[in-house]
Amino acid sequence: MKRQVMCQLEEIPDGTMKAVELESRAIVLIRKGKEVFALRDTCPHQGARLSNGVLTSRRLSSVAGDYRAEKAKQIVRCPWHNWEFDAASGRCLHDPQRLRVAVYRTEIENGQVVIVTS
Ligand code: FES
Repeated sequence: MKRQVMCQLEEIPDGTMKAVELESRAIVLIRKGKEVFALRDTCPHQGARLSNGVLTSRRLSSVAGDYRAEKAKQIVRCPWHNWEFDAASGRCLHDPQRLRVAVYRTEIENGQVVIVTS
């Protein structure tokens, strides 16, 4: 197991993203409360940096005009063509079986965000 400190937790305000690099790979860290998710910072569609997108929620509706939101600040919307990805799984909301971005395991240690790789 390899453990690499990416930044201090306090550098990522709750509900925001931070772009970092891990061995020359672009990674986006996404903070949601006490959790930090880590995704490859490259959209699988045409390569936009997801860290330049926005964090939003997943909106669900069973009838027209009645919406409820879930996973607040956990959905990353690509800045170029609005594909959306769940920060926890990396799966694209539009086609979760086929489209996803890589996710990395994270831990918080002594106030530092650590990515753990094998
Ligand atoms: S580059 Fe991300 S949706 Fe097109």
